[in-house]
Amino acid sequence: RLGLQTETLGRQIHHEESVDSTQKIAHRLAYEGAQEGTVVIAEEQLSGRGRMDRRWHSPKSTGVWMSVILRPNIPPPKAPQLTLITAVAVVQAIEVLTDLTPQIKWPNDILMNGKKVTGILTELQADADRIISIIIGIGINVNQELDDYPDELKDIATSISIEKGEKLSRAELIRVLLGKLENLYKLYLDKGFYPIKLLWESYAVSIGKNLTARTITGSIYGKALGITEDGVLMIEDSSGKVHHVYSADIELDV
Ligand code: BTN
Repeated sequence: RLGLQTETLGRQIHHEESVDSTQKIAHRLAYEGAQEGTVVIAEEQLSGRGRMDRRWHSPKSTGVWMSVILRPNIPPPKAPQLTLITAVAVVQAIEVLTDLTPQIKWPNDILMNGKKVTGILTELQADADRIISIIIGIGINVNQELDDYPDELKDIATSISIEKGEKLSRAELIRVLLGKLENLYKLYLDKGFYPIKLLWESYAVSIGKNLTARTITGSIYGKALGITEDGVLMIEDSSGKVHHVYSADIELDV
């Protein structure tokens, strides 16, 4: 129906009208043994989830609310790499379909004109040393107008249609995105993370800039040097010490 040209991603698609969260459904399907590449898409999410226990605003038929099940044979600490692969795939898909170039803010936000257009949430089902499945949740704001956003999001969120000035087909976006994601995922399984890291860094806003990383244990201020092989952010503070940041909220200096 979508005219997919992929081999595995999206071969099984569960398209739902209204769900709590596509993540929840994908977790259940993965647990029940769903094959790699299974995709859950919903028109609307009643309790879409974001990182750090936040909610993800997912109004009806305006965005891409999607979860993808992957089963890579990698150790759990490498799972964040999948978030970065997905971010590159989303940027490439938006680039193909519009003349806009979104930017990536580590680890998983995709920005247009400094406002968030996409969020990615990667969750694991894993043993101590083995990943059983990775559920990648992708939320892309596609055809919302500014009026569709609640007040607290108006200054920080945007959509492709707000930036482009016209609506974009969600089906087309999903088709192109799954194609890009499959290509990058294959490249990753074949050649490792390094080629992805280069692509990711070419789209990243934060590299070379001063920023504050708020982690659960405190804030670090310094210059973002880049990411490690595992996708961990490196920040150099004013004393020259390099911090490795695994999970944080990032605020760029203006
Ligand atoms: C974030 O930036 O905090 C991540 C947002 C992830 C949202 C997507 S929408 C599809 C999938 N289902 C969810 O409940 N969340 C993810």
